[in-house]
Amino acid sequence: MMPPENPIPRSFELAAARCEDLTPLVYRRLFEKHPEAAGMFRSEGSALVKGSMLALTIEAMLDFASERTGHFRLIECEVSSHDAYGTPRELFIAFFSVIADTLREVVGAEWSPEFDVAWRKLLDEIEGIVKRSEA
Ligand code: HEM
Repeated sequence: MMPPENPIPRSFELAAARCEDLTPLVYRRLFEKHPEAAGMFRSEGSALVKGSMLALTIEAMLDFASERTGHFRLIECEVSSHDAYGTPRELFIAFFSVIADTLREVVGAEWSPEFDVAWRKLLDEIEGIVKRSEA
């Protein structure tokens, strides 16, 4: 029997088939929902930071949702660097939901309730990690 497919990587695959680069969609959604986040990025060279921040966050989420080889530890590390950047913890946590909402929008009709269940669990677990991290 085939092992059941993991909905988290599957949702990223479906989105990748429809959208070459999630970066502009994710940051548009982030800044619409949390306008205060826009001013937190440096005025020059922030495109590179935003692109790499998103790519590394996705890598960490995929690792956390599957093999847990170690990339997921980025999440804990970045909690403290973002405390130093002045990013409130609630906003830091919100970035993960913004990614999930962007995927749901891009995947559209192929999004299933199974994805919602897997994403809810993942987002709750990540929120737990962030909230438990030392200041
Ligand atoms: C809305 C929430 C967030 C805001 C406002 C934010 C803000 C920032 C800012 C201002 C920087 C760059 C500082 C600089 O100019 O050098 C940065 C870098 C970074 N952030 Fe975030 N961040 C958020 C959420 C996250 C999350 C959830 C993660 C992953 C767990 C993350 C991972 C990173 C990484 C890895 C970098 C370094 C990127 C690089 O230069 O290669 N960020 N973030």
